[in-house]
Amino acid sequence: MPEVVVVTGASAGVGRAIAQAFARRGARVALLARGREGLAGARKEVEAAGGRALVVPTDVADADQVEAAAGAVEEELGPIDVWINSAMASVFSPFKEVTPEEFKRATEVTYLGTVYGTMAALKRMLPRDRGSIVQVGSALSYRAIPLQAAYCGAKHGVRGFTDSLRTELLHEGSNVHLTMAQLPGLNTPQFGWSRTRLPRHPQPVEPIYQPEVAAEAIYWAAHNKRREVYVGTSSVITILGNKIAPWLGDRYLARTAYDGQQTEEPVDPDRPDNLFDPVPEDHGSHGIFDSQAHARSPQLWATTHRGWLALAGAGVASAACAALFRRRI
Ligand SMILES: NC(=O)c1ccc[n+]([C@@H]2O[C@H](COP(=O)([O-])OP(=O)(O)OC[C@H]3O[C@@H](n4cnc5c(N)ncnc54)[C@H](OP(=O)(O)O)[C@@H]3O)[C@@H](O)[C@H]2O)c1
Repeated sequence: MPEVVVVTGASAGVGRAIAQAFARRGARVALLARGREGLAGARKEVEAAGGRALVVPTDVADADQVEAAAGAVEEELGPIDVWINSAMASVFSPFKEVTPEEFKRATEVTYLGTVYGTMAALKRMLPRDRGSIVQVGSALSYRAIPLQAAYCGAKHGVRGFTDSLRTELLHEGSNVHLTMAQLPGLNTPQFGWSRTRLPRHPQPVEPIYQPEVAAEAIYWAAHNKRREVYVGTSSVITILGNKIAPWLGDRYLARTAYDGQQTEEPVDPDRPDNLFDPVPEDHGSHGIFDSQAHARSPQLWATTHRGWLALAGAGVASAACAALFRRRI
């Protein structure tokens, strides 16, 4: 039976690339987001890749809509095997200029949207004692940066709530798999349509990867029992570095991350943003940073093949020991 997967934030960016990654493997893919044109574009791509698509227009900040979407998916496509929470909204701005309404909305979409998605998935997966839930996280789930307080707070919240839930699943001996992928900077439409008060066009923190790198990591995370998957060397360095010397990160980011999150181009003060409503038209999965973005991550290959690497390492070490031993006798 083809796998049934739900992807939130499937109309653009990482979510859209995830939908394609599953479609290429023949999955039935439920596409949840708000923008009709983006959802229609995602549906076409899923079908062209060999999958079956179901468009379910949903605002993930509304728990009832998410629950209704899950019901519609099961009715149309069958029991949900995988649920991926990728939808997000952010505000690029110094915290002192963010309004309470903006902060609340970014939190409702990015944090509570993930919580509601997880509730709807669990409601169906727990009685069957199977299924896989992937939270799309970020290196910023561990290391917050300036100018994105609401988003960083939400990503930290997702990690905290996910860790809590994981302990409950373990306590109950559940076979439902819960994991989180911590992603690096990615070339997605996010930077062209998130609300911003920065003088220049927002950009991801470098190095930038293509969303397909993230999508492959998330496909892997959904099918392997890893607690978390770090994607990209930059994510590993950021997360581990922050554990060792968070105070150093504070100072480094205070100095570099204002410029590091903006291109040289001025931002259009009238550009539409997707905080409360979707931006019209189909924006696809890629943003404007194709020329800078890496299409591959050797670190991701290494982390997803660490069993083989360990085996190869052990083989090389044994061969070296044997050679040394032969030379001595
Ligand atoms: N891009 C990066 O540098 C980066 C880095 C690390 C982690 N990530 C993670 O990757 C995930 C996707 O980010 P992205 O860069 O692909 O973002 P994006 O390009 O802005 O796409 C966001 C997606 O979320 C949907 N969305 C926004 N508000 C929604 C709502 N209220 N209800 C339902 N869907 C909503 C959007 O569709 P509609 O507007 O049509 O609803 C769109 O499909 C996020 O979880 C993010 O934290 C991204």
